[in-house]
Amino acid sequence: MADADGAIRLLLFGPPGCGKGTQAELLSEELGVPAISTGDMLRASVKADSPLGRRVESIMNAGELVDDATMADVVRERLGNDDVGDGFILDGYPRTIPQAETLGEILAAADAELDAVVYLDVPEDELVRRALERGRDDDTGEVIRERLRVYRSKTAPILGFYRDRGLLVEIDGHQEVRSVTATILDSIGETV
Ligand code: AP5
Repeated sequence: MADADGAIRLLLFGPPGCGKGTQAELLSEELGVPAISTGDMLRASVKADSPLGRRVESIMNAGELVDDATMADVVRERLGNDDVGDGFILDGYPRTIPQAETLGEILAAADAELDAVVYLDVPEDELVRRALERGRDDDTGEVIRERLRVYRSKTAPILGFYRDRGLLVEIDGHQEVRSVTATILDSIGETV
């Protein structure tokens, strides 16, 4: 799967802990396009103690969403980099319907569009198990539950947004890591 321009633009979608970051890195190696994680970008800003990092740290630690306007700036700037000329694997954005609309505008302005939105379906008890095992700063029981609540209310509606546009590819994310990668590549018509 690739556009007429030969680029491949994938979005990885699903609840916290479903494996978006893990699969984005593996797909990036397989497809030769950069993995872009808004969560990683924000965590790097926090670590660097930048103005953005100082603004978002407490929001992230509470499991809430950073506001749409801030995220639009972050993503617009990142997708303006030269390294996305052949495409990208985007993980963590969009997380609200307005963010999905903004992404569409950013891509349209560059005469580009998404090829597929890969939804990783994983049962909730497995999501909690994975996050507790990982132990990131925002992986405490209470914050994980809040991130899942925010996902259900604000992010899950995006599934319908992309299903309506014929872009949604649903994948069983509750398999061994490499099997998930192979299933994704198979589903989007790429060979391993
Ligand atoms: P973000 O970093 O995007 O967090 P998230 O969506 O909660 O996703 P996770 O990183 O928890 O999970 P993942 O699906 O990437 O799974 P992973 O591969 O790590 O965002 C963090 C925060 O930033 C948000 O809460 C918000 O505050 C803010 N933010 C970011 N983007 C934003 C936006 N657009 N708008 C507003 N705010 C935003 O895997 C999880 C674990 O499971 C790992 O330990 C992994 O090794 C393991 N694992 C993965 N796959 C498998 C498998 N198949 N089998 C067994 N274990 C597996």
